[in-house]
Amino acid sequence: MSKVKIAVLVSGSGSNLQSLIDYIEARKINAEIKLVISNKYGAYGLTRGEKCGITTLVLDKKDFLDIRERDRLLLENLQKNEIDIVVLAGYLAIIPPEIIGVYRNRIINIHPSLLPSFGGKSYYGERVHQEVIKRGVKITGATVHFVNEETDGGPIILQRAVEVDFDDEWQTVQKKVLAIEHEILPMAVKLLVEGKVEVVGNRVKLL
Ligand code: GRF
Repeated sequence: MSKVKIAVLVSGSGSNLQSLIDYIEARKINAEIKLVISNKYGAYGLTRGEKCGITTLVLDKKDFLDIRERDRLLLENLQKNEIDIVVLAGYLAIIPPEIIGVYRNRIINIHPSLLPSFGGKSYYGERVHQEVIKRGVKITGATVHFVNEETDGGPIILQRAVEVDFDDEWQTVQKKVLAIEHEILPMAVKLLVEGKVEVVGNRVKLL
């Protein structure tokens, strides 16, 4: 039986991509990462992909007069490579509705908070953790969810919490959260690959 084909989309360091690569290499997930796509030149995630012999591609908006052309190429590459699952691992660009429609419930994202808290359009990168500290919440965490037309609003697959200590700086919180991201993202991919995720309305039933 042919392996499930995954594309991972990154914009930065790609530590979540690395964790996925490690799980797959350790044969804990029966899938293949066929493509790493970045919307930024020089993203270290590209290097991580290349080191493993994965095909990489840069689709940077500055190379396109019309952003729709970039997105058209994104979809074309996913389809050409017969990608089954798309993983957004720190991908800081919007996936247009045309792609979401084609890949309904097959695009997942990792978000560094317990959604719906600290989610939505302006919550990305360090800002999430800075707002966590500012608000004084005692727990935060990470969420893996399906991508739908609402930013950070798709059905939630997995979440895990970490404690926020009074003296934590946002960098400390980021570190704690990243450590659990590296566990729950591969876990969610494994569940998907094994067909153990059922979407019921805007909720997920794990089988
Ligand atoms: C992670 O915190 C992820 O939750 C967010 O972007 C960050 C990406 O980190 N969406 P990395 O590139 O995987 O190291």
